[in-house]
Amino acid sequence: NWTMADFIDLQIEKIRQQVGDRKVLLGLSGGVDSSVVGVLLNKAIGQQLTCIFVDHGLLRKNEAQEVMDSLEGKFGLNIIKVDAQERFLSKLTGVSDPEKKRKIIGNEFIQVFNDEAIKLKGEIDFLAQGTLYTDVIESGTDTAQTIKSHHNVGGLPEDMHFELIEPLRTLFKDEARELGEKLGMPEALVWRQPFPGPGLGIRVIGEITKDKLEIVRDSDFILRDEIRKAGLMRDIWQYFTVLPGFRSVGVMGDGRTYDYTIAIRAVTSIDGMTADFARIPWDILQKISVRIVNEVDHVNRVVYDCTSKPPSTIEWE
Ligand code: XMP
Repeated sequence: NWTMADFIDLQIEKIRQQVGDRKVLLGLSGGVDSSVVGVLLNKAIGQQLTCIFVDHGLLRKNEAQEVMDSLEGKFGLNIIKVDAQERFLSKLTGVSDPEKKRKIIGNEFIQVFNDEAIKLKGEIDFLAQGTLYTDVIESGTDTAQTIKSHHNVGGLPEDMHFELIEPLRTLFKDEARELGEKLGMPEALVWRQPFPGPGLGIRVIGEITKDKLEIVRDSDFILRDEIRKAGLMRDIWQYFTVLPGFRSVGVMGDGRTYDYTIAIRAVTSIDGMTADFARIPWDILQKISVRIVNEVDHVNRVVYDCTSKPPSTIEWE
């Protein structure tokens, strides 16, 4: 009779055996899988674990801080946080093609990670990863590897050799979440909605600027706040805002405005492969719309995306 408590004990024992008195490196993304691996490893080997957390400036509001407060503050993980916002932004200047943006963000992520990893050269023997059972199956095909390439840490410096530690290799996503809960991790982290590696970078349509990032980040925060208040968090697979980047006419007070539109995207899904637009009640949509227009500068219109996947995708880019 297999229980999660047994799994934890077994993994801790296994990790201690394997690592001995040597050291492990882990890339934290802020997502469920790498966070769970971090907390598990920390329980097993404590300060022999070093984590690298790259803040690429495309995370959601307060997200980097919440990861640090929880994983470093509460759980005591040893984390090197790299503030790389400017580095990413400058690389993305003038780029508007979605796939080019993805490539730049993915490459830059690996670069930043490697720059930090190299500083630890000679000290580290293992690399830990949040690989799930589904990743193990998928990586059998080329397509899956390209699909996954932009959010997995890869391409380590040639002269650094690591043994891999992948304690979640036998688990499905919901089991990884259950493991996180068993390890005492906060609900907001364990039940986090899927968030793409390129982050808000693919939710500002076209060229990314600091101002546009701010608009999408602030409106997304309001949407998440209202969805949480309405208790709909677990009913909706993903919910976020998109800045299409065009402007339209509005009226505020006795003046005419010419400002941006924010689109709300919310879908229900089992696995992200197909999706249906979420039937959020009108009165909640109204609250969200009023708040976004009132609280976010340069937005005068909010629209709701009522297409399903297919024919649309979940993200707009
Ligand atoms: P689409 O937009 O293709 O999204 O319907 C399906 C799921 O994949 C996520 N997604 C990504 N995840 N890097 C990621 O790590 C990406 O470049 C990327 N693009 C889409 C999307 O959020 C949804 O969960």
